[in-house]
Amino acid sequence: MASFAPPRGMRDFYPEDYRAREAVFIAWRRAARMWGFEPYEAPVVETLELLERKAGEEISEQIYAFEDKGGNRLALRPELTPSLARMIIARQGGFSFPVKWTSIGQCFRYERMQRGRKREHFQWNLDVIGEESIMAEAEVIGAAIGALRQLGLTSEDFKVRVGSRALLADLLIPCEIEGQHFTACCMALDKRGKITNKEVVQLLEAEGLGRPDVERVFKLLGIRSLEQAEERLGAKDNPHLTDLRELLQLAEEFGWADFINFDLSVIRGLGYYTGIVFEAFDVAGEMRALFGGGRYDNLLSSLGGETMPCVGLGFGDVVVMELLANCKKTPRTNRTISLGVGFMEDSARPLAIRIATLAREVGWPCDLALRAEKPRKFFSRSDKGGVKYAICIGLDEVATGEFRIKQMAGGEPIRATLETLPKVLGA
Ligand code: HAM
Repeated sequence: MASFAPPRGMRDFYPEDYRAREAVFIAWRRAARMWGFEPYEAPVVETLELLERKAGEEISEQIYAFEDKGGNRLALRPELTPSLARMIIARQGGFSFPVKWTSIGQCFRYERMQRGRKREHFQWNLDVIGEESIMAEAEVIGAAIGALRQLGLTSEDFKVRVGSRALLADLLIPCEIEGQHFTACCMALDKRGKITNKEVVQLLEAEGLGRPDVERVFKLLGIRSLEQAEERLGAKDNPHLTDLRELLQLAEEFGWADFINFDLSVIRGLGYYTGIVFEAFDVAGEMRALFGGGRYDNLLSSLGGETMPCVGLGFGDVVVMELLANCKKTPRTNRTISLGVGFMEDSARPLAIRIATLAREVGWPCDLALRAEKPRKFFSRSDKGGVKYAICIGLDEVATGEFRIKQMAGGEPIRATLETLPKVLGA
């Protein structure tokens, strides 16, 4: 074998990497629970038909597709949303909506390799299905901010930029972009910064926009306040403007207004969003998006289900780890294990086994030595391995039935026997 590295863009998680990732997963799961989302899971492999879309999205070109032995066209999922939609549609009559679902799933995208983007990542998803009110956006965004706060990040580290495709569409009415071209225009505009502006213009022109309209669109993307948007619209009562105002008001009420800014240039690269869209970025603006999402009211119907309002977000594990490292807030993740049990002779092993078994039965994670070793070696190994309490069994202990529990952080050893051990361990 020429190389022991995983395929390009795929990731190994050695135990220390796994622990660091787990700290992020714990924050995600905790926030999902605190905000009342129910966990679900879908398969990593889906039919290509479910995942493919024709809206000119980058994601459609990045799908790992294959044929199985039965000739079925399958793919590794690049995101969880189509699977979620499929699962909802399959039982659409059987739920009492709205439902709030959450999942952490491994996703695969054949990306150009760059900072913050891998070909495989874990993505936390939060979705509210069946709710029209802006409270759905607020709860989804609030939970994601909650998870980042739990990891120690503040509004000085990241911000959520909120835009609205629906508002953009209203502002573009004078350009007379036909319905079917609007999504393609959004996809083109989302590519700004990734391809040259000249190329963006070419894409827009391909969708039927003339030069003056292209210029108008670029100007619109400079809108950074609701007042500016209102001025452009020439109307106060635009419903999409009202939605954004409500979201900003809710942000105040929930206490995370510091974290969000209105920015009409946030469009997002997925075709199915229809309303408010949002993305979170590091404040320094050096990294890719931490999370992104929005309202997607037509996805279910486009896949053959009944129309239903949906809001959700995806939050990957890659950028948040980079941001935590940048902010020197990488979670402390040394290995720890409650109890280590060793033995000096083979004839002491049965007692060591009984101690370890008892400890495990009362819920103490226990690392039992696999072979006899000298006490010095055992204690030094326990120390390095993050053991909190250690017991070393020799022939004396076997003879008397009494042993000492060494507190690795210091302090007097605790004496115990098999009979007293459960009590000593707090069982
Ligand atoms: P997305 O913007 O394509 O949205 O991805 C969401 C997040 O997943 C990104 O902000 C980033 O954190 C992470 N991510 C995506 N691709 C990669 C990659 N190649 N490497 C590392 N991280 C990545 C969606 O996927 C939507 N399905 C989210 C959603 C759920 N919308 C509604 N519900």
